[in-house]
Amino acid sequence: MKYMKLFFLLFLFNIGISAFAQNALIEHKVDSLLSKMTLKEKIGQLVRKTDLNKMTGELIKEGKFGEMGDLNSASVRDSLQRIAVKESRLHIPLAFAADVIHGYHTVFPVPLAQSCSWDPALVEKAARIAALEAASYGLNWTFSPMVDIARDPRWGRIVEGAGEDPFLGSIMAAAYVRGYQGKSLSDEGSIAATAKHYVAYGAAQAGRDYNTVDISVRTLRDIYLPPFHAAVNAGAGSIMSAFNDLNGIPASENYFTLTKILRDEWHFKGVVISDYNSIGELVNHGVAANKEDAAREGITAGVDVDLAGDTITGNIYSPYLEYLVKKHIISEKLIDRSVRRVLRLKFRLGLFDHPYVDKEYFRKNMPSQKEKNKIARQLGRESIVLLKNEGHLLPLKKNIHSIALIGPLADDQADLLGPWSPNGISKNVITVLQGIKDKVSPETKINYVKGCGILDTSRSGFDDAIKVAKESDVAIMVVGESRDMSGEAASRTNLDIPGIQNKLIKKIYEANKHLIIVLMNGRPLTIDWISKNIPSILETWFLGNQTGNAIADVIFGDYNPSGKLTATFPRVVGQIPLFYNHMNTGRPPSPTDHYTSKYIDCPVTPLYPFGYGLSYTDFKFSDIAVNKKQIGMDDSVIVSVNVKNTGETAGTEVAELYIRKMVASVTRPVEELKGFKRVFLNPGESKSISFMLKPEMLEYYGVDMKKIIEPGVIKVMVGGSSDDVITTSFEILK
Ligand code: BGC
Repeated sequence: MKYMKLFFLLFLFNIGISAFAQNALIEHKVDSLLSKMTLKEKIGQLVRKTDLNKMTGELIKEGKFGEMGDLNSASVRDSLQRIAVKESRLHIPLAFAADVIHGYHTVFPVPLAQSCSWDPALVEKAARIAALEAASYGLNWTFSPMVDIARDPRWGRIVEGAGEDPFLGSIMAAAYVRGYQGKSLSDEGSIAATAKHYVAYGAAQAGRDYNTVDISVRTLRDIYLPPFHAAVNAGAGSIMSAFNDLNGIPASENYFTLTKILRDEWHFKGVVISDYNSIGELVNHGVAANKEDAAREGITAGVDVDLAGDTITGNIYSPYLEYLVKKHIISEKLIDRSVRRVLRLKFRLGLFDHPYVDKEYFRKNMPSQKEKNKIARQLGRESIVLLKNEGHLLPLKKNIHSIALIGPLADDQADLLGPWSPNGISKNVITVLQGIKDKVSPETKINYVKGCGILDTSRSGFDDAIKVAKESDVAIMVVGESRDMSGEAASRTNLDIPGIQNKLIKKIYEANKHLIIVLMNGRPLTIDWISKNIPSILETWFLGNQTGNAIADVIFGDYNPSGKLTATFPRVVGQIPLFYNHMNTGRPPSPTDHYTSKYIDCPVTPLYPFGYGLSYTDFKFSDIAVNKKQIGMDDSVIVSVNVKNTGETAGTEVAELYIRKMVASVTRPVEELKGFKRVFLNPGESKSISFMLKPEMLEYYGVDMKKIIEPGVIKVMVGGSSDDVITTSFEILK
């Protein structure tokens, strides 16, 4: 035993030494290459070219840019790489960098959906497949994950992230980074991850994309920064600086966030890449007089690469950095600092040793499409959230006599890919109609009628839809948003199901009370009426290639839904921003006291809270306990709880652990997620599970914005939703 421990320590020591030696070697190579570069060549490394044109080959030879977008072809990509490696003066390979957000060819659920699985291991597997596919087309670097916390569903980009919680968001951020970057960035199938958009882009005022952000430094540190920090700790190769201004200073010239926090506090060694023309837009923000001023501000604050460096608007670093150095407005050392980071990443990616796509590697290591679909289907079904299931209408029997399938998204393919899936192939998407057809018995009659389009104004399809609803045992309506109604530049002020779909839902409900609503959308919607009236509701987001199969698995009980919301569903838009980890206020809402914090025209509670999601079975939490009722400032606490499946179907419950610091020197949220576990239980089975609350999980920023642990009572809550928990407590002693 003693020897084993010794061997283990030696082993760790060796790994440490070899990583240290490797890093030192890379630093040596970077320095030696940098010393040979002209100013023009250095600046070239800081410019990403977005597309291919007639001049591309010549520009590569001259070293005019160091990064390039996706070319969708390994051979075209390699032919350009050959020019860089063989014909440019210093033979520096290009890095190919583009958006791979939720899959490349195999499209997985949108990130918001993935987060509802609360299954980081599966999210990591999906990201690994995305990396392998993207790398087989020659990509070395993706602009993902988006780790922006979003508390406002009007903001269309809520679909690209993991929702409203910094703890879950941090775990998901790290899972994506591990998936993309694999064991080593230099592996053929690994791509560098980019945590974006740094920072607080999701706090855009009024949910309007690109809008100003004005939040306290406390909120910045408590809510918006943690997922970025987690991505950095997981080794993310790059960070993208955001479009928005933050407390008066645009994110892409923000020395405090880009250098003070990112470099000095977190010791990030990777590359900061701008967002699309976010350096040029410093002029529009009114903090730069012109483009050269913008270039100066960007590079000084710590933005290394100009993402849209060859576009008319985004062409900032390539012309202006040289001018700034020549005029002695900035020092060449500033350029060197950024070039060093880019070269370091290229060395880490192994691009100097293997610059071309190794087809043989992918032939051997790429999982079959069947295996990839299996992961996509599993992640799809785990992402689905059962919002309501009155009278156990779901699951349906596979030998049901007849089903009316209605709605604009029931036989759609393209929309199901969701936003940001540029390489998805819509003909490979399993529609809901197909998924149901493949699932039911040969005798089951499926009466499909579209009924209306997503944004239609014409009711001409209503009569046929009503007719089939009347004639069938059950009606399933697949309704929601189109894929382009969420994502970038897709903010909404009205979060109802768009067009006349709500009208059709009411008509179908009149015709058949056995109605199941399958929602597809990129954000929480306002569905108050549906939630009050319709017996069964499934939130399915956009699930990608395997949509139809995943939904049919849930509808017919081959998978018992386990998804939990990661973004609060408001009742009405006027409640936004609405999130679970709010402060208590001095006048917490009380139904018996008028002068408390609430509305006179709407309940203060959400329609569906964070962490909420039903199952076909019931779970009961009991016997919550802590191993110590009193602890010292540096101690950990183990929280244990019993979870029992009290129903008749096997299923997975997500046990969620929340805490509240009851009294502190600063106000603290009424609940903060600090742990979660997926627990599979057969009918009648129970399991005891435990969580470790470590001292750093009990810390927060004090009055002077320094991290502290203060004595006092911590309330501990565990349950299957943020609004349904059992509690205990412990005390931190001085
Ligand atoms: C988006 C980024 C994206 C970039 C490059 C921008 O408009 O904000 O998320 O990575 O374009 O495509």
